Amino acid sequence: MTGEEETEDMVVTPWKVSGIVDYNKLIERFGTKPMTRDLIGRLEKHAGYLHLQLRRGIFFSHRDLDWWLDNYENGQTVGLYTGRGPSGPVHLGHLLPWFFTKYLQEAFEADLYFQMTDDEKFLIHPELNLDDTVGYTYDNALGLIACGLNPKKTKIISDVNNISHIYRLALKVAKHVTYSTVRAVFGLQDSHNIGIIWFPAIQATPSFIQSVREGKNVAVLIPAAIDQDPYWRMTRDIAERLGFYKPAQMHAKFLPGLGRGGKMSASMPETAIFTIDPPEAAAKKIMNAYTGGRPTVKEQRELGGDPSICTIYAYYYYLFEEDDSSLLELERECRSGGIICGDCKARLAEVIKAFLKDFQEKREKAKDVIEQFMLK
Ligand code: TYM
Repeated sequence: MTGEEETEDMVVTPWKVSGIVDYNKLIERFGTKPMTRDLIGRLEKHAGYLHLQLRRGIFFSHRDLDWWLDNYENGQTVGLYTGRGPSGPVHLGHLLPWFFTKYLQEAFEADLYFQMTDDEKFLIHPELNLDDTVGYTYDNALGLIACGLNPKKTKIISDVNNISHIYRLALKVAKHVTYSTVRAVFGLQDSHNIGIIWFPAIQATPSFIQSVREGKNVAVLIPAAIDQDPYWRMTRDIAERLGFYKPAQMHAKFLPGLGRGGKMSASMPETAIFTIDPPEAAAKKIMNAYTGGRPTVKEQRELGGDPSICTIYAYYYYLFEEDDSSLLELERECRSGGIICGDCKARLAEVIKAFLKDFQEKREKAKDVIEQFMLK
């Protein structure tokens, strides 16, 4: 099979990501723009440093980021919006856009609206009831707060508990979106329940909440992985008809799972590292991960490994090796056969154990302040 045919199978929707994801093709297919040096430079200038996820092209695409930055540079208020569908515990993939959101919040002193779609996950997952998803809202909010967001500038919205804050606006959104648009954008089938047909209006709404609350139009940027893009295409289509700005987006690549191919996903717990995993259990998952290594140590020493397909290398790349020269050194060691997979895994397992211990302490502390973050 050629690479071309393999990518034919690529599916990227908010509810399903499968096949080999070709990010350049997604830029074309979704009609977004690639990140540019100029934009990265502007973000760096305002933040005072270049975030790892910008340096390494993890946030690879955008819509109207230049316009959002223009607003900021012209002294206008700018806002941020992102979210989570609470269907289980938080995994490392979710942390990618959240760490980046914290970077943006600090750099631009921006308010952040964070939506917990405990309604969406109830509607989509037959096995989940409302107590489950609302319970995960609380649990996931602890993980979000552990990322270090500013309590004075962050509001977490639970769709189920805070519906009165969003319903009026969501109705106005819904009135401008036809069934045929939702069906086409989200690939809905006759068998989908009617809740999910209406739900996209709910996810669009927080793009406009800050504007309504402040009584003036606010330029909003949505940092998220690219799977959420269908919502923003729909939202942008109707924003101006409601008198609001179109929200801008920054799109991230997916942190892979620990298996062969595919993004990290809660639906495959054995290949996902959850932030609540006991550190030793996470270390075991790392030791079982798929790597770019050779079948035997002898071959590995002679021929070297392939970091480009290795999940262990990906974790260093996406999250756990800040230092670019150390990352390059690791890549060289791998390709030259200087390091074997067992040792490389053991090294990462130690890093992840320390990370989880620290994160879990912060998560515990979040219990004391969670009320400050929830929309009242
Ligand atoms: P959810 O819960 O699927 O994902 C939450 C956020 O994590 C991103 N994400 C990933 N990023 C990198 N690597 C991965 N393996 C990975 N898996 C998930 C998602 O893109 C998302 O940014 N419907 C949404 C909830 C939502 C939302 C929003 C998300 C409501 N409003 C605004 C982003 C922005 C959902 O179910 O996300």
